[in-house]
Amino acid sequence: MNKITITRPDDWHLHLRDGDVLPDLVSHTARQFTRALVMPNLRPPVTQVAQALSYRSRIQEAAITAGYPDFQALMTLYLTDMTLPSEIEKAKEAGIMGVKLYPAGATTNSDAGVTDLNKCDSTIAKMAELDMPLLVHGEVTHSVIDIFDREAAFIEQVLEPLRKKHPKLRVVFEHITTKQAADYVSQANTKDYGEIAATITAHHLLYNRNAIFMGGIRPHYYCLPVLKREEHRQALLAAATSDSTRFFLGTDSAPHAQHLKEHACGCAGCFTAAQAIELYAQAFASVGKLQQLEKFASLNGPHFYGLPVNQSMITIEKIPQKIPLSYPMGQDLIVPLNAGESLEWSILG
Ligand code: DOR
Ligand code: ZN
Repeated sequence: MNKITITRPDDWHLHLRDGDVLPDLVSHTARQFTRALVMPNLRPPVTQVAQALSYRSRIQEAAITAGYPDFQALMTLYLTDMTLPSEIEKAKEAGIMGVKLYPAGATTNSDAGVTDLNKCDSTIAKMAELDMPLLVHGEVTHSVIDIFDREAAFIEQVLEPLRKKHPKLRVVFEHITTKQAADYVSQANTKDYGEIAATITAHHLLYNRNAIFMGGIRPHYYCLPVLKREEHRQALLAAATSDSTRFFLGTDSAPHAQHLKEHACGCAGCFTAAQAIELYAQAFASVGKLQQLEKFASLNGPHFYGLPVNQSMITIEKIPQKIPLSYPMGQDLIVPLNAGESLEWSILG
């Protein structure tokens, strides 16, 4: 299979930042995707509906400036210990798609995140009642737990008890990185408990943790949750290319200026937005499953979120392209994953 035409995809997990950099960033995503679900971990975080709506206007304006008037930003709220059930009611009315749980200290701009999920009980109950999905960064943060084990520990210590406590709550386990998470999601009981789905990034499908240390430390492969062993990459590939409707595309593309990645304490995040669908095509083609790409990239996400699938199509063909060394991001440069390397697939047109 050297060419595939699929329903135009959506990105169900994206970091766009804010301000002058928005047109530069949004254009990469809007070139390939009709919609993107935008994460709320700005500084300060997007904790209120009013903030989310004004952030959305700035993104839409940036998309117009960048020449993509049809691009649609879908919004999320940032859950804190203080989020009120009444904010969830407002969010539902305003069309906010989900509320993001960042355990405090888990990742970039998570300082305002949740310190103790028990403090959010009435708010999460309201989410379950109103069918507002909870999107989770699924890692525990205790310093005694090894960084490579944090996702698996989260399933047992946080996710399973949470779903039992709120049996109607619908959950998206974001950017899963382990076999344990893939198995948990594909086998989860959704008869007695709420639906669960997971997003998977292109980088976790293409790389194992060796990529971070190949011949020296490679900061552009560092993200959170961190890349894992090969057996986990294989499990993610099997899940993404399976017939399950519970897995869908979320790039977690996370732009950081080059000097902040190539730093003594480099930021977490891989920038994949510019070649996202081509990177996924490469991963799916590597196991001869390109025909499964459309479900994962274009159908399963809208199905979970109760939205129509996109009307237009895109064609991806086996034509090599060279990934640029960097892209402009306002006054700074941003280095994409795989900078300078060649990629086997390209979008036609
Ligand atoms: O690597 C990451 N970068 N993981 C996250 O969870 C956040 C993201 C970011 O915002 O930079
Ligand atoms: Zn993210």
